[in-house]
Amino acid sequence: MGKAKIIAGNWKMNKNLPDAVTLVNDILKSSDSKNSTIILFPPFPLIPAVVDLLKNKTGYFVGAQNCSEHLSGAFTGETSSEMLSSVGCKYALVGHSERRQYFNEQSSVLTGKIKQLLASGLKPVYCIGEKLEERKNNFHFDVVKKQLTEVLSHFSIENMSQIILAYEPVWAIGTGETATPVQAQDMHSFIRKCIAEMFGTDAASSISILYGGSCNAQNARELFSCPDIDGGLIGGASLKAEDFCKIIASV
Ligand code: PGA
Repeated sequence: MGKAKIIAGNWKMNKNLPDAVTLVNDILKSSDSKNSTIILFPPFPLIPAVVDLLKNKTGYFVGAQNCSEHLSGAFTGETSSEMLSSVGCKYALVGHSERRQYFNEQSSVLTGKIKQLLASGLKPVYCIGEKLEERKNNFHFDVVKKQLTEVLSHFSIENMSQIILAYEPVWAIGTGETATPVQAQDMHSFIRKCIAEMFGTDAASSISILYGGSCNAQNARELFSCPDIDGGLIGGASLKAEDFCKIIASV
């Protein structure tokens, strides 16, 4: 019996309040969470409104795109995991490639963020994935293993039951170029093998590993039918209700 699939929408720095309300209402009108868990990741200021719209909607949750590695204090511009929890967030992305690339987030910082999230009862979605050069030079497995071990070695088996992974090859994000189902499945099965080596086979089979990178209404079904792909982290296609609902329906 497989796990329920997770379909997550990463809005990145898009949408204002009226747009967000329309998008969420349209998603609710045309989607069904019966076969999956649906998580929306709006920008910070829109989180309370989206939480409100999804209140009492079974299977729909709200997550944040980032959080601070600190508990509280003089960190101007930062948002703590406790704040996110207090407004109804249940998940948060950690280590998205755009955070790694533009904000230079390193493994030690990402470890701190996951620690804070777990302490506040939020589920981290830890993102990993290689750059184009790394794949071309056949380093993709090494890079992903390093991203996994440098961060996850700081956590216990119990912690792992709260963590979700998202494999997002950087060359596929926002480019329209998706990993083929074979490329994605190969990496997902490798990731599961790494988790088995670190935490045992039970943790490896129960962890959810999402695929992200130009996943859309056309390719979602084939990707989600791969045995080690437990759902998707969707960027561009999560901004249009029609596309996102088609992806939800592909599960
Ligand atoms: P994309 O983004 O679907 O637009 O490629 C995915 C992501 O960055 O999470």
